[in-house]
Amino acid sequence: IPAFSQTPPNPFRVATEATFPPFEFQQGGQLTGFDIDLMRAIGKEADLNIDFRNLPFDGIIPALQARTVEAAISGMTITAERAQAISFSRPYFRAGLAIAVREDNKTIKNFEDLKGKRIAVQIGTTGALEAAKIPGATVSQFDSAALALQELINGRVEAVVNDKPVTLYAIKQAGLRGVKVVGELLTEEFYGIALPKNSPYLQLINDALGRVIESGQYDVIFRQWFGE
Ligand code: ARG
Repeated sequence: IPAFSQTPPNPFRVATEATFPPFEFQQGGQLTGFDIDLMRAIGKEADLNIDFRNLPFDGIIPALQARTVEAAISGMTITAERAQAISFSRPYFRAGLAIAVREDNKTIKNFEDLKGKRIAVQIGTTGALEAAKIPGATVSQFDSAALALQELINGRVEAVVNDKPVTLYAIKQAGLRGVKVVGELLTEEFYGIALPKNSPYLQLINDALGRVIESGQYDVIFRQWFGE
């Protein structure tokens, strides 16, 4: 047992923002998704009684800082800026941002083409940060990626910048109509489980995540949600 470890609280509170299929979302009032299954497997390995708390995405880091939750799993990208405020587990998923436009759009093909355009994003995300860098763009922020995509369908914006696996899932699995993904990945990003800065449970989570990966449980969960 490492010197800094402590008996984990029961329940072990884990924040998530559950409008982000296939990572975390609600189905018939139940929390489900890749991250949810992964966190449950980690909880089993680490003998934790996990209690998920659904929070707005931009409320997750403040909740970790206030220590009203012990951890968060929410498709959250590991960034240097966030790592100043909170701690991250080892990466567990490779993702990145992609541009979505309406199917009939022939002018927007890459990041350059977004100059001066109207763009929708989810508040507090890496997509919002990237969109803010586009010269002359008007960026509208929404509480969920789904609302941002709805804005695109309704014709009030010309593009959405969002995590590629989430936009693709909306189109291919959730039947979102009239939208396509264009261009290359804008960024390469890695998701991590977030914990308060210097959390005494970081090693516990990392060790359990390692066992979930090495035992093959990770692959089973991955195939369930991404079918490969
Ligand atoms: N990966 C992006 C980020 O870290 C978006 C995550 C949004 N997650 C969510 N559950 N809504 O900013």
